[in-house]
Amino acid sequence: MEKYIIKGGKKLSGEVVISGAKNAVVAILPAVILSDEPCVIENIPGISDVSITLQIMSEMGAKIRMINKTSVEIDPRGIMNVPIPYEKAKRMRATTYFLGTLLGRFHSAHVSMPGGCNLGDRPIDQHLKCFAALGTKCELDGGMIHLSADRLVGNQIFFDKNSVGATINGIMAAVKAEGLTIIENAAKEPHVVDLANCLNSMGADIIGAGTDVIKIRGVRSLHGTTYSVIPDQIEAGTFMAVAAATKSDIIIRNVIPKHLEPITNKLIKIGVQVEQFDDYVRVIGGENYVGTSIKTHPHPGFPTDMQPQISTVLTCASGTSMITESIFDNRFRYVDELRRMGANISVEGRVAVIEGVEKLKGAPVRATDLRAGAALIIAALGAEGTSEIYDIYHIERGYENMEIKLRDLGADIKKVDEPDIPETETKQAI
Ligand code: EPU
Repeated sequence: MEKYIIKGGKKLSGEVVISGAKNAVVAILPAVILSDEPCVIENIPGISDVSITLQIMSEMGAKIRMINKTSVEIDPRGIMNVPIPYEKAKRMRATTYFLGTLLGRFHSAHVSMPGGCNLGDRPIDQHLKCFAALGTKCELDGGMIHLSADRLVGNQIFFDKNSVGATINGIMAAVKAEGLTIIENAAKEPHVVDLANCLNSMGADIIGAGTDVIKIRGVRSLHGTTYSVIPDQIEAGTFMAVAAATKSDIIIRNVIPKHLEPITNKLIKIGVQVEQFDDYVRVIGGENYVGTSIKTHPHPGFPTDMQPQISTVLTCASGTSMITESIFDNRFRYVDELRRMGANISVEGRVAVIEGVEKLKGAPVRATDLRAGAALIIAALGAEGTSEIYDIYHIERGYENMEIKLRDLGADIKKVDEPDIPETETKQAI
């Protein structure tokens, strides 16, 4: 079992380069299935969600060639419409995107209900609503979602819930459907726009991505492209929070500062200095922060994927902070771990109240999901003493070389592989 050991309390300095966006690349790679020709996708991050996606595509018959560490050529011509079973789908949420792409290409798809971070109830009713509106029969049997359509015909769809996944799946299914599809109450996240831009570069006709009405006029075929994934807004935000928690001065390169604005604004409000340039930001931590209130919202609001990290910074801000999570039911699972480090946080439903303490203290803690893991790294870096972070596979799903990037900034972090305790020994201990 791998874990991170972090000695906290060090000031960091220097520069970090942000990788390609996880939530864009996990949509863009499956989107290549819709193309009739090979595609090159650049700026892909080295994270396990990418390797799982490429492995699934390779097992379907795609020819995958890594051109270098961050560019891959995918030839989708040999892909067969094979079912994606639970063993594969449980490993990440974005396997749902195979529903939209396989449906778009083959007019049928068979994919297990997805896995991903446990953040509470994560239904896919809006994805199915959209597929059905385009003329698809949707059935759930033995945990598998079965989609089939004689023809896909454009339609007008209003999402009852603002959903990134349903918007992306709707675009994928509609891109080669007959006629016009209009998606209303669409998600506006940067990764939705990036997927639409990528598909347009393959010859799709999508307008309005980034607003709440997206219009997709179906085309007969898509051609090859070379497309570079946008930088990861949440990885950048996480390093901004690292600078804040460790009171450091860090330059964060390869970012789109506009995407970071909701995070930047909150950090400035609590007392962090943020300077914005064309494609980088400089974050200068302060000695004292003031508590604030934050409510997560779909883009351009404060992103739920940054809620654990900013809450961690606020554990040491003076006064009371109030965090309201409006997207997911259960995104405070990291709070118990932060309490082990001395944070004073109480949670009632979707609201966490943080009473600032002077310092966190190092402790053994467990990453309960991807962003929770990032939050614990931030906590450990800012804390006094040594922390051990377990279950770091969650972190490696979405952050490329996290410990190397942090070490390059001067952090005292190492990854160690500790042998698992055999089950019999655990039983004896109990
Ligand atoms: N929802 C429904 N029905 C649906 C779909 C969603 O009720 O059919 C609800 C969800 O339960 C949730 C809300 O709508 O309450 C938003 O869910 P959304 O569909 O937008 O989330 P997602 O597509 O499952 C993506 C990201 C998440 C990120 C959310 C919100 C990917 C692969 N995942 O998930 O990323 O938190 O959007 O922005 O893009 C992460 O990166 O750590 C992460 C969890």
